[in-house]
Amino acid sequence: MRATAVANPNLALVKYWGKRDEKLILPQHGSISLTLQGLETRTTVTFDQTLDHDDLCVNGEPARPTGRVLGLLDGVRALAGSACRARVESENSFPTAAGLASSASGFAALALAASRAAGLTLDRPGLSRLARQGSGSACRSIYGGFAEWLPGSRPDGSDSFAEPLAPEEHWDLPVLIALVRSGAKEVSSSQGMARSVATSPFYPAWRRQVDQDLDLVRRAIAERDLNLLGRVAEENAMRMHAVAMAAEPPILYWSPGTIQVLEKVRALRLAGLAAYPSMDAGPHVHVLTSRDSVAALRVELLALGEVSEVRLSGPGPGARLLDVAGP
Ligand code: DP6
Repeated sequence: MRATAVANPNLALVKYWGKRDEKLILPQHGSISLTLQGLETRTTVTFDQTLDHDDLCVNGEPARPTGRVLGLLDGVRALAGSACRARVESENSFPTAAGLASSASGFAALALAASRAAGLTLDRPGLSRLARQGSGSACRSIYGGFAEWLPGSRPDGSDSFAEPLAPEEHWDLPVLIALVRSGAKEVSSSQGMARSVATSPFYPAWRRQVDQDLDLVRRAIAERDLNLLGRVAEENAMRMHAVAMAAEPPILYWSPGTIQVLEKVRALRLAGLAAYPSMDAGPHVHVLTSRDSVAALRVELLALGEVSEVRLSGPGPGARLLDVAGP
């Protein structure tokens, strides 16, 4: 049995930063994201009786499957009552590990492709739970548009999955992604959040603030209030980075280009453009903007010496199936 699925990465508007269970990938608190249009991971999973181990190929190159990939496949086999090994072929339409959340689109596509290839038809919450076990943020990429990850409270994680807040058609919200010059990422988001929970003196303050940010962002999405959404998303991102910077040893995801973009965005906002920055665990900057401001903002960002590329995105679709083939 074979299935191919496509999924898109997401930008966290209220960040997931900290786990309460490392193994099951259960978060300390809720988070909200926007699934991004135009960036995709396409994954084909084939369960094959002749294989004696799971086989992985990423962007055409053989790769060693990580424990999380094997864990997700084991989860699917357990649900399907099968012992059959899988061949996984995955391709990204954007640079892998560039801080553009390839793990979110990767595990969302893997969850859908693997479950269908195994003959399972999971509902969206079930898919979201499965994707979460590969990478936390992936549970939100199951849905298009805006999604909220409900943290849940059960120790087995059965109530920890994402729900849709508003579909992609709800809001024509342009997002410019400024890719800045930088080297490879030194500290993964998993390591960064674990170190922040364990050592950052700002972590308790972060936890206290999150629920208020979730309320405000939910309201901003419902009312399509860019000013409110942008303001809270920017503050939330800056706080997450401050928490990481205060960890021991400190974590700095930014490069000089990050600051260059942040300063430019601030100046353009004072000059009247709609522009609100947010960074996940990497140096690149996503800028939420409006149809009126997007063209001028793009030109200004591209002119910055430390910016290598600017991509136009916005609300995109959830994980979808391209093809299923039976035996
Ligand atoms: C800063 O989902 O990559 O992008 O669950 O350990 O795989 P794991 O972490 P991951 O962390 C994402 C962190 C973030 C914020 C977010 O996406 O909410």
